[in-house]
Amino acid sequence: MSITILGAGNVGLALARSFIRKGETVVLGVPDPDKYRAAVSELGDAVRLLPTGEAIAASDVVILAVPHAAVAGIATGLADWQGRILVDATNPLAPGLSGLSVGTTTSAAEELARLATGARVVKAFNTTGAENMADPAYVGGMPVMPVCGDDADARQRVLALASLIGFDAIDCGPLSAARYLEPFAMLWIHLAIRQGHGRRFAFGILRRD
Ligand SMILES: NC(=O)c1ccc[n+]([C@@H]2O[C@H](COP(=O)([O-])OP(=O)(O)OC[C@H]3O[C@@H](n4cnc5c(N)ncnc54)[C@H](OP(=O)(O)O)[C@@H]3O)[C@@H](O)[C@H]2O)c1
Repeated sequence: MSITILGAGNVGLALARSFIRKGETVVLGVPDPDKYRAAVSELGDAVRLLPTGEAIAASDVVILAVPHAAVAGIATGLADWQGRILVDATNPLAPGLSGLSVGTTTSAAEELARLATGARVVKAFNTTGAENMADPAYVGGMPVMPVCGDDADARQRVLALASLIGFDAIDCGPLSAARYLEPFAMLWIHLAIRQGHGRRFAFGILRRD
């Protein structure tokens, strides 16, 4: 079955490229498909571009790669997500990158789970730059991809997707761990943008035998 990605911007197209490279078929959902027709046609036949609602209906895994402001409308736009896996790749950035708009005693992912009736929400693909999602290959090792969610089966499915495209996928347990994943994303953004490291780096985990 296809993987649906809502949003065809930096993250949406990057993940689409990586999944296609691994033989998956992808549905990209956007409010106005005509706007993205040319960009998406470059990805070839393994991608279909549909309006948001049709794209959601096409898959049992839906990745949110949209601005955080669009999330609530998408979540409540469906009366029942019927067990779909809803992967939250968003970051609730406060204006001027001053922090997280939801704070740290909840998370965007937990708020999403409250709104998306019947969805199995998983947080993933939010902690590194889109360039790393398009191409996770580094000479020094695999970039880490933390994944959390309350439904064990959904979490495993998303861990497998992150591994498939080349990440060191780490099971972080319950969805409440998104309270750590979202600030962790802010560290990547802070280093890339404020501290002048640029976007060509990724976090990884070192392990002793
Ligand atoms: N950029 C990164 O490196 C990065 C890394 C990790 C996580 N993130 C997070 O990932 C999310 C997306 O970031 P981005 O940089 O990819 O943003 P972006 O380039 O601005 O792309 C956002 C996409 O979402 C679409 N969209 C807006 N409302 C929608 C809706 N209701 N249904 C379907 N699609 C909708 C937009 O379409 P229109 O153009 O028609 O509005 C656009 O294609 C953000 O929450 C961001 O915080 C970004």
